[in-house]
Amino acid sequence: MEKEKIQSLISQMTLEEKAGMCSGADFWHLKGVERLGIPSVMVTDGPHGLRKQAQGADHLGINESEKAICFPAGCATASSFDRELIRKQGELLGQECQAMDVSTILGPAMNIKRSPLCGRNFEYYSEDPLVSTEMAAALIKGVQSKNVGTSAKHFVANNQEKRRMTNSSDMDERTLREIYLASFEGAIKKEKPWTVMSSYNRINGEFVGDKKEYLTEILREEWGFDGYVVSDWGGAVNDRVSSLAAGLDLEMPPGDYEDDRLIVKKVQEGKLDESVVDQACERILNIIFRYTENRDEKAVFDYEKDHKAAAEIEAECMVLLKNENEILPLTSDKKIAFIGKYAKTPRYQGGGSSHINSWKVESALEAAKEIPELANVTFAEGYQDEKDEVIEELQMKAVKAAAEADVAVLFLGLPDNFESEGYDRKHMNLPDCQNELVEKVLEVQKHVVVVLHNGSAVIMPWKDQVEGILEAYLGGEAVGKAVAEVLAGRKNPCGRLAETFPLRLEDTPCYLTYGKGYDNSDYREGVFVGYRYYTSRKMETAFPFGYGLSYTTFEYSDLQVDKKEMSDKDTVEVSVKVKNTGDRAGKTVVQLYVEAPETEVVRPVRELRGFEKIFLEAGEEKTVTFTLDERAFAYWNTLIHDWYAEEGTYKVMIGENADQMCVGEEITVHPTKELPKTYSLNTCLGELMRDPKAQTVMAPFMQGMAQNDAAMDMQKQMKMISQEL
Ligand code: BGC
Repeated sequence: MEKEKIQSLISQMTLEEKAGMCSGADFWHLKGVERLGIPSVMVTDGPHGLRKQAQGADHLGINESEKAICFPAGCATASSFDRELIRKQGELLGQECQAMDVSTILGPAMNIKRSPLCGRNFEYYSEDPLVSTEMAAALIKGVQSKNVGTSAKHFVANNQEKRRMTNSSDMDERTLREIYLASFEGAIKKEKPWTVMSSYNRINGEFVGDKKEYLTEILREEWGFDGYVVSDWGGAVNDRVSSLAAGLDLEMPPGDYEDDRLIVKKVQEGKLDESVVDQACERILNIIFRYTENRDEKAVFDYEKDHKAAAEIEAECMVLLKNENEILPLTSDKKIAFIGKYAKTPRYQGGGSSHINSWKVESALEAAKEIPELANVTFAEGYQDEKDEVIEELQMKAVKAAAEADVAVLFLGLPDNFESEGYDRKHMNLPDCQNELVEKVLEVQKHVVVVLHNGSAVIMPWKDQVEGILEAYLGGEAVGKAVAEVLAGRKNPCGRLAETFPLRLEDTPCYLTYGKGYDNSDYREGVFVGYRYYTSRKMETAFPFGYGLSYTTFEYSDLQVDKKEMSDKDTVEVSVKVKNTGDRAGKTVVQLYVEAPETEVVRPVRELRGFEKIFLEAGEEKTVTFTLDERAFAYWNTLIHDWYAEEGTYKVMIGENADQMCVGEEITVHPTKELPKTYSLNTCLGELMRDPKAQTVMAPFMQGMAQNDAAMDMQKQMKMISQEL
């Protein structure tokens, strides 16, 4: 609806009606105004499926919702590194929303995985802001192409579940910009989500929901966001009046409408400008009508088709972590033992508000029946997951099945009570009973493959003894089919880790501070999150960021840059040849990293600045091109409160993963932005005289000083200092 029409509607609304628009009608609906033809629309969780609740509303995924397709969760889809794939997932979700008359899906969830312990990591994409923001952008693009809104959440720095309603994420400006805001920035600028969900937490002591700096200055004025900001459910509004003025337009759920009354009162008392209320209404109405005017009444929810798509998506997400002696793919001449509860009843989604009432669940055991290569499969449950205890009988039967087979495939993972929204993990271990099962099986069978169902990195004590490891993550309701197809080689695994798998919890960058602090969390690791930390410290990890194998192999060569020098206003084109050197078709993720020159600025050794997923037939070669601008070389400079690419020579490299660089070139960057300089009596003369501007100012003094002996001494000293520098 045009701006003028919306404004005319607002001018016809009473103050009470306008204040009312700023909170919901109930748990999932926005208010309508019948007399003015403003409809009431519904929003629903997300992010990887619809949780449309008819009755018994809650934000913890407790009460049942309507049946829907549970797609792979963010932890899995991020590993695809595939924008097009995620866009398609978004399209399907958008279509389902239209079919169910849902105006906005509450996702993508795009917080940074600061620690592997965050209980909600399974919903989030990555430890890297570029991957996170690009994946989220793709989902937003797909959903919104169906004229349904998204809600980029939880904005911002909501990186733990512990005291998530009040915790203060304490960090410096540069860390906030480079890591936590950057995770949202690209997606918001590029794809303009219809809504943004402000998080519960505080930053440096102040509630995000009260901060104009985040909700208006950064989000709208800097990034061009033009939708409405909604509060995270039941807690993200601290002070309704200041939050409205800060840019938090819609409060959800509405509670007993007390805040509506408060808004009216404050306007009447002259303590809140009515234009602030009008503006929030305008933003909300704009989105409501964007949906209703483009409503697709004919849209159908095609469960069967979307279930199949969920399997196809998951097959592109799984990460093959180990494949010694080419144990995979499995072949029909092998007797295979599927071992572990999750072979039959997979763990495929996490707990909490994203919990989907799945249409159906397909296990690997069931899917194997349809796959000739897996004709020879037996099954033993091995463990149960309600309690972490060894059940002797189950374990014995599993060991026997493993001994009698040629290959044992163990399906392991984190049970529901090990990771969920609402609390953080205390450790990174799998249940002891599962680890013990692997040990026992290894005593009788040396050909062991582990399939993992988990939402975040785990420690694998048996990593060096097993031959194969397939990370399936929380792969959605069709995960079993996807796993079986990859095990059988019908699909070639092509996921890459969007997070580091450390060797020990103690190695993680925020180990000393994560989960500590009474009501605050000290982000002392700064910008050194995930691989930025491990690579800078040259630390060994279990599997680095960006890592993943395939049933084929790839080679990178002939990296070219179209210029060797550039200013921060230019762009540079980087191209590289990628060849499939194996004997089957496959996909790889071409990863571009930039290393900054050594200067006085503290920076991670390298950062991911581009990635492309490409398909190559066996023997095929393609050239992949990236365009880099200032941002690829820049850090957030707190003197100018802006991105700044220092003068110097940078390395641009293509890596197999964050640890292993393959080919590279150098580019010299010249900044045009000037940094303000402050000098004091403590400034060394040498430093002063290196600055041409300071030199001009100092010249007359220096001349005057040269006329007396004392000044001569000073000059000598200055010379010495200059030489030292
Ligand atoms: C979660 C959100 C969710 C909302 C509604 C909150 O507790 O943090 O992600 O969208 O509930 O269920």
